[in-house]
Amino acid sequence: MQHIRKTFLDGKVIANDDITLKILKGEKHAIVGENGAGKSTLMKMLNGLYTPTSGKIFYHGEEVQIDSPSKAAELGIGMVYQHFMLVPTLTVAENMILGVEPKKGLSLDINQARQDVIDVSKKYGLAIDPDALVSDLSIGMQQRVEILKILFKGANLLVFDEPTAVLTPQEIKELYKIMDNLIAEGKTIIFISHKLQEVLDISDNITVIRRGKDIANFPTKEATKEKIANAMVGRAVLFTTERPEVEIGEVVLSVKDVSVKDHHNVIKVNNASFEIRKGEVLGIAGVEGSGQTELVEALTGLKEICSGEMILDNVILKKKTPRKISQLGLAHIPEDRHKRAAVSQFSVMENFALGLERDEYSKFGLLNFSKLRKDAEMFMEKYDVRPRSVDTEFGRLSGGNQQKIIVARELEKKNNNLIIAGQPTRGVDIGAIESIHKLILNEKVKGKAVMVVSSELSEILNLSDKIAVMCAGKITGILSREEANEEKIGILMAGGKLD
Ligand SMILES: Nc1ncnc2c1ncn2[C@@H]1O[C@H](COP(=O)(O)OP(=O)(O)OP(=O)(O)O)[C@@H](O)[C@H]1O
Ligand SMILES: [Mg+2]
Repeated sequence: MQHIRKTFLDGKVIANDDITLKILKGEKHAIVGENGAGKSTLMKMLNGLYTPTSGKIFYHGEEVQIDSPSKAAELGIGMVYQHFMLVPTLTVAENMILGVEPKKGLSLDINQARQDVIDVSKKYGLAIDPDALVSDLSIGMQQRVEILKILFKGANLLVFDEPTAVLTPQEIKELYKIMDNLIAEGKTIIFISHKLQEVLDISDNITVIRRGKDIANFPTKEATKEKIANAMVGRAVLFTTERPEVEIGEVVLSVKDVSVKDHHNVIKVNNASFEIRKGEVLGIAGVEGSGQTELVEALTGLKEICSGEMILDNVILKKKTPRKISQLGLAHIPEDRHKRAAVSQFSVMENFALGLERDEYSKFGLLNFSKLRKDAEMFMEKYDVRPRSVDTEFGRLSGGNQQKIIVARELEKKNNNLIIAGQPTRGVDIGAIESIHKLILNEKVKGKAVMVVSSELSEILNLSDKIAVMCAGKITGILSREEANEEKIGILMAGGKLD
């Protein structure tokens, strides 16, 4: 890709300024950069989702015009997006044939598609059930379907946009294996990542993009975390945050013997008990899918509990609506921001008002737009959301900037005294991780109770005063920060016992 420029909104947003990128056959090439640097945009041009404003693309030495994803597929380029594009109500095989339907007579040949899924998944070690409904699949499995989909269309150059951001540690290992299999089969891989260790572990070469420009390019064997971070941010970055000493106060949240079932009547949370006090951060560690999601859904009123008791500031939470619980002082940063936290078609400003529209921003039953605009502008500044325009459509922001808006809205809620943060730094860059961690720890200084659910052990260890580990719906242990370490947490995560 040579001297690629891409602007949006009549040139008002310059997503890519002048980027030159060279990818070699058979390599794994990492693209890194801050949120909003222009990584996804650059890759979407390779995949024909966007066309460059100016600049040229050469593929196997020949200049190509990639003006649609089908043109990209024809060339052998495929992309797994940051946000999956599957149809949840269809099966794996049905999703696979969207766009490349094998025809038998005039009807779709679903049997052929099923067989193809089985064949292709065998070849690359991507085990998956062709008849499973996508809505029933874990995120890791959904990603496999996306990978299969592009392999199906004959991809030789595979682009992954933050592929491990949404995966469990186990799924990540499996993905690395799949990537190795793809390379062994003669494929080439480009991947975007915010995880510097991962970049060091699996890439051959690295390109760093900062504010729409390619700032640096070096082989991975010459790279260090510090070198990458410096090139990304333009300054040195701290990799841990100082935890402030705070006096722990009275109990804010008490959870006693709580059990939760899913819609198939399967127990997802099994007799969980814990407390969180003022000024205390409780980290919930565990492989994703161990019941954390359901526990949070119960606490936030999205799901009913089948036994036990939850008490927030002396109020029993039984049969309370999410709105009521929110008014009682719960702020919630949901792990799935698209499903639970935001409306893509709304502006940034409107997203700031979600959930507060009947309280803080209501005036005589109408939205108080002037206050809302003023606050939204202030929060964008404070949380460094880019670009700084409250009228931007939320869905057009880069992934990490979307996350910052949700964090800002929830932490800035007036009456919050319990904050539940689910995967609060997923998809955000290292600079922003640093600032979100500081903000969360600052809530502790303000005497709030905080619960952090994260699949990143480093995040849990960085933030928590106490760590509860979940495995298969049970809390297998609660450790103080002093006694906790990766090894002990690992044992509890796998359901083992500490001596
Ligand atoms: N369709 C669009 N319309 C308007 N602006 C856009 C559009 N797509 C991207 N942008 C803007 O272009 C810039 C680059 O966005 P991009 O999504 O490429 O960033 P990124 O490097 O992938 O960031 P992240 O790490 O947060 O995913 C951002 O300022 C973004 O708001
Ligand atoms: Mg992106």
